[in-house]
Amino acid sequence: MKLLITGGAGFIGSNLVEKLIEKTENEIIIIDNLSGGRKEFIEPFLDKIKFHKVDLLNNADKYFSGVEEVWHLAANPNVKDSSPETFFKDLKITKNVLESCKRNKVKRILFTSSSTVYGESKINTPENCETKPISFYGATKLACESLISTYCSLYKIQGFIFRLANIIGKNSTHGVIYDFVQKLLKNEEELEILGDGTQTKSYLSVEDCINGMLIARDKSENLINIFNLGNKDWINVKEIAEIVVEEMLVGGLIKERPKFKFTGGVEGGRGWKGDVKEMLLDISKLEKLGFRPKYNSKESVRKSVKETIHNKIITV
Ligand SMILES: NC(=O)c1ccc[n+]([C@@H]2O[C@H](COP(=O)([O-])OP(=O)(O)OC[C@H]3O[C@@H](n4cnc5c(N)ncnc54)[C@H](O)[C@@H]3O)[C@@H](O)[C@H]2O)c1
Repeated sequence: MKLLITGGAGFIGSNLVEKLIEKTENEIIIIDNLSGGRKEFIEPFLDKIKFHKVDLLNNADKYFSGVEEVWHLAANPNVKDSSPETFFKDLKITKNVLESCKRNKVKRILFTSSSTVYGESKINTPENCETKPISFYGATKLACESLISTYCSLYKIQGFIFRLANIIGKNSTHGVIYDFVQKLLKNEEELEILGDGTQTKSYLSVEDCINGMLIARDKSENLINIFNLGNKDWINVKEIAEIVVEEMLVGGLIKERPKFKFTGGVEGGRGWKGDVKEMLLDISKLEKLGFRPKYNSKESVRKSVKETIHNKIITV
């Protein structure tokens, strides 16, 4: 099968490529402008894939010729830095990708959306919960979902929308773990923690995330398929900081426990305006298809801290 991955040199994308090339019959094309991704993440597979450094704000039609399946991951992945400008940019990228899918008769598109589409979600948020985003990031994902649903319906492209929790692991270059490791490498005496540290969310290892998406793809036959994808438990930011400190002490990267300095945050201890304070998705829809996360939130965090420390992607 000929597959195209937008954002394939990024964190989730590079892990996805590694998994998809296990099937030798897969022919993989990556499009990435390397704004967030890194060539080194896909370096080990370059002899088995085709990589094109292309900005999807421009027409990339020619790369979609003969493609059966598109994984659309390219986007600004930072909730904190999202803005009306990133909203329109990512919506345009998605429109361009969908137009290319339509013109080249692509059979299937899979899209990495986010739990942030729900906004102030309740505990165990199901897929049919109201969507009321409170960040430009969440609004962008919801708008992209609408566009995908429309193209899929009009042009009979099968669509998969994955509302992801916090995905962590090898090659991650953003998010709370990366942030803490980076800060401690710069200053081991004090760790600044955004908010009051009680922000509590579900974290899923990238390995489980990819397995979940593949289970959904292989077992669901509807035209448009929406799945939550996260862990069944959660962990707060202070506990994550403790794990980062423990692992960095064990690894000899810091010599003593740092002092935690909480910024206090905004609106009841959030890390930033638009940060959802608590997030736990109901994943029973995907569980019914056989999905079982291998690592819980705490195990995923510990594994990800070790990978972040050891894979030398930190830039101080
Ligand atoms: N990591 C998470 O916790 C998480 C959670 C929910 C959703 N997502 C979504 O999953 C996807 C992948 O996220 P990630 O964490 O791997 O981030 P990432 O930044 O590592 O990957 C995104 C990739 O898209 C590329 N890209 C961005 N704009 C582009 C453009 N105009 N043209 C071509 N390439 C472009 C970047 O260079 C990068 O390689 C994103 O859509 C993100 O919003 C991630």
